[in-house]
Amino acid sequence: MISAVCLQHITKTFRMSDYADSQQVRGGAFYALDDITLSIMRGSCTVIAGANGSGKSLLMAIIAKLEEPSSGAVEITGKVGLVFQNADSQILGETPREDIAIGVRGKNMTKAERDTIVQSALTETGLSAKADFPSRFLSGGEKRRLAVAGVLAMNADILIFDEPYANLDYKGVSCVNTLLLQLQAKQKTIIILTHELEKCLKLAGSLVVLKRGNIVFNGTAREGLQENLLQWGIHNPLGSSNSIDDLLWL
Ligand SMILES: Nc1ncnc2c1ncn2[C@@H]1O[C@H](COP(=O)(O)OP(=O)(O)O)[C@@H](O)[C@H]1O
Ligand SMILES: [Mg+2]
Repeated sequence: MISAVCLQHITKTFRMSDYADSQQVRGGAFYALDDITLSIMRGSCTVIAGANGSGKSLLMAIIAKLEEPSSGAVEITGKVGLVFQNADSQILGETPREDIAIGVRGKNMTKAERDTIVQSALTETGLSAKADFPSRFLSGGEKRRLAVAGVLAMNADILIFDEPYANLDYKGVSCVNTLLLQLQAKQKTIIILTHELEKCLKLAGSLVVLKRGNIVFNGTAREGLQENLLQWGIHNPLGSSNSIDDLLWL
C-alpha cells in the first residue's frame, strides 16, 4: 500500500505563558502537537477524533502545508484539498458557479475547459440546480457541499474535512455522508476530523485519537470501539446498538 500522508515525529510548539499550568508545557514551550508519527494510506478513509483543543485542526494545517511543523518530517503524495469547519470562510464567489471557478486554474486552460470542470463539480455535489443562486442563501449542508465542489474542481486527491458535521441537522449530515461515500468510491483519500463518531465511523477504515497533542490510539475503527473512548474525551458512539454498521447517518 502506498501512503498519501506520512508524518514523522511532528511537533508544533507555541511560546505562550497562558498555558503555564498545562500538562503540555515543557521548557517554556506549549506542545500543541507532540511527536506525531502517522501514515495514511492512499484511497483510505481515516477518522481523526479528539476533544476540542487536542490538535486536530493543527494537524490538518500541517498536512495541507498551511503551517510548518516545529520539528519532524512531512511527506505528502498528492494534492490536498481542505473543507474547513466554517464553510462560510471558504466561499468567495457570489454564486456556486463563480465560487468553484475561482479555484480552477491551469496553464493554457480555455474558458470552455474551465466551465466543464466547474459544471462537473456542481453535478457531482448535487448543486447544479443552485449553480447561479446567491451563495449566501445556501443552507449549511449546501455550503459544505459547495466547499467540497471547490476541492473537487481543484482536482485534489487527499480531502480533509474539519468538523464536517458541525451545525448541521440530520439532513445536512446525510448529504455530507452521501458525498463522502461517492468520494470513497472514487478512491479519494479522505480524512475526517471529528468527535462525532456516531455519524461517520462506519465509513472509516482507521481511527486515530488525539489527546493533548498526542496520538493515544491508532487502529481500525472496529478496534477503536473496544476502547473506553470517554477517557479521551470522546462520547462512545455505540448506544443501544453494538454494531459499527449503525454508525453512519444517511
Ligand atoms: N496559532 C496558535 N497559537 C497558539 N496556540 C495555538 C495556535 N493554534 C492552535 N493553538 C493551540 O493548539 C491546540 C490545538 O488546537 P487545534 O488544532 O485547533 O485543536 P482542535 O482542532 O482539536 O480543537 C489548542 O490548545 C490551541 O489553542
Ligand atoms: Mg478544530
